[in-house]
Amino acid sequence: MASVATIMFSLGLMTMLSATKAELLSSEDEQRLVSFVNHVMECRNIPGLTMTLVKGKEHKTFPMGVSNKETGEKVDSSTLFYLGSLTQSFTSTLIAVLTQRSGNVIHFDSPISQLIGGELRLTNRVLSEEITLRDALMHRTGLSTGSIGSLTGLPKAMSRGEVINHLKHLPLLGVFRDDFSFNQFIYTLAAYVGEKITGTSWEKLMRTHLLDRLLMSSTLVEADDVTAPGFARSYVSNQGVLKPINPKLFDAGPLAPASFMFSNADDMIKGLKFFLGAPNLLSQVQLPPPVLEEVMNPRLLLPVGFRATLDKSSYAWPVSDISVGYAMGFFRNIYRGMQVPWHASSTHGFTSIMWLVPERSVGVFISINGQKYSTTPLSSLQTITYTATDLLLGEEPWINETTACTFPEPWIKMPEFPDVKLDTKDPDHALEAYVGTFGNDLLGDMILRKSTTQDKALAMVMADVTGYLVPEGGNIFRLFLDGDFNHLRQPEEGKQPLPFLRFFFDFKAKECVAVKVPDSIFGGSPVTFHKKPDVKEEL
Ligand SMILES: *[C@@H]1O[C@H](CO)[C@@H](O)[C@H](O)[C@H]1NC(C)=O
Repeated sequence: MASVATIMFSLGLMTMLSATKAELLSSEDEQRLVSFVNHVMECRNIPGLTMTLVKGKEHKTFPMGVSNKETGEKVDSSTLFYLGSLTQSFTSTLIAVLTQRSGNVIHFDSPISQLIGGELRLTNRVLSEEITLRDALMHRTGLSTGSIGSLTGLPKAMSRGEVINHLKHLPLLGVFRDDFSFNQFIYTLAAYVGEKITGTSWEKLMRTHLLDRLLMSSTLVEADDVTAPGFARSYVSNQGVLKPINPKLFDAGPLAPASFMFSNADDMIKGLKFFLGAPNLLSQVQLPPPVLEEVMNPRLLLPVGFRATLDKSSYAWPVSDISVGYAMGFFRNIYRGMQVPWHASSTHGFTSIMWLVPERSVGVFISINGQKYSTTPLSSLQTITYTATDLLLGEEPWINETTACTFPEPWIKMPEFPDVKLDTKDPDHALEAYVGTFGNDLLGDMILRKSTTQDKALAMVMADVTGYLVPEGGNIFRLFLDGDFNHLRQPEEGKQPLPFLRFFFDFKAKECVAVKVPDSIFGGSPVTFHKKPDVKEEL
């Protein structure tokens, strides 16, 4: 017994000794990291970057580059960057806080239909009755992402309640509770549950129950003007050239709980420490550690295609990093044999990552406001994340300045970017027959006209998204985006434009009655837009 006590005592002493000596990084390692990041920013054409590193009680912010290419304004540790879907980690944690505050009246496994005290109408009865908060927060409902609606956002005037009333228009794409399909509408449903039971908006709940308690006072969940001082501007790569993004596109309307947060390196010190389980921060939010663990606990394997892009097996890679599933607003990997809850997002020019190694109290947050290689947006952040993590863990980094710029090569060959010239064929009807306004109660109106710039094509406008439709024979057209989304049509120089989706028009006799738009260019259950009666256009 005495020997056990001695061992315990010396272990304790060792911890204390290392705690007193703790520093985030030696100055040599810090210089090495900063020079590495500068190098990655240069070879990948990244205008600005913000980074927060945490190790135990230690932390440091690394603001680098410019927040605005036009004015040359520098990023500082308070510059706001867009978190995109990292917002979901915060939303699911907020729901966890609300379940605690309810004294377990609300539980992750409570059916949502019972919690919102009204009828929930989804595409089928089983789903409507059985879907729980856990299903919603784990993206395992099997419901469609809303096809083009996931890009256009929603009619801005729509309330969160109206969104919920129209969710039945989302078709089933996969198997309920078996298939992972990322869905911002259903995340909004989970946030709506919180609103219904507290009578308070998600924005206010996030402020009062999470952000204010963590003293993340600069973090924003709503903003009228994302070009105001303090916000980083972002840039998309259009055929290799960085172009500023239209700031209007950040307005997520009612879907904000799935995507709308801006934060900075200073606030993310607290964010990272909280998600790493710092006891003082957890008690500030009144979240018991096991509940945070449950939020981060993976219960669903990602689909094969997803895993193929995330997994780094030890067969092909010097250091392995394997996806072991999805939790509530958190992915879960095993890196160097350690559990890593994480999330990443790439939207409207911003790419962000939050990466946690709780067993070593190590956390990394990085966000960038643009980069040249937009077709594999996460690669640049992965090179920095792995290198920062390795240095914080005292491991020798496995990515050097050469491979940082070619990553994921030389370890895996990047698939060639498609370069296919697609045939066009005359449609079954004259182009006029496809013209009109097509509406979906959830997703809004889409206007199709004859294109004035493209021969034998239709022009499409839906909210802030524009594009043109080229016939491929029968009643099928291909959508190519343009305008603010040009970069999605032709991200690489010298390649053929890429279609974004296919449109299938329905006719009754000689009348066009609807257009069906599958979830992706590869197919998947379509959302339907019904042709609206013609209104005489006012001139
Ligand atoms: C960088 O790493 C690659 C792959 O591990 C290696 O082949 C190469 O020699 C390294 N380059 C330098 C300059 O160390």
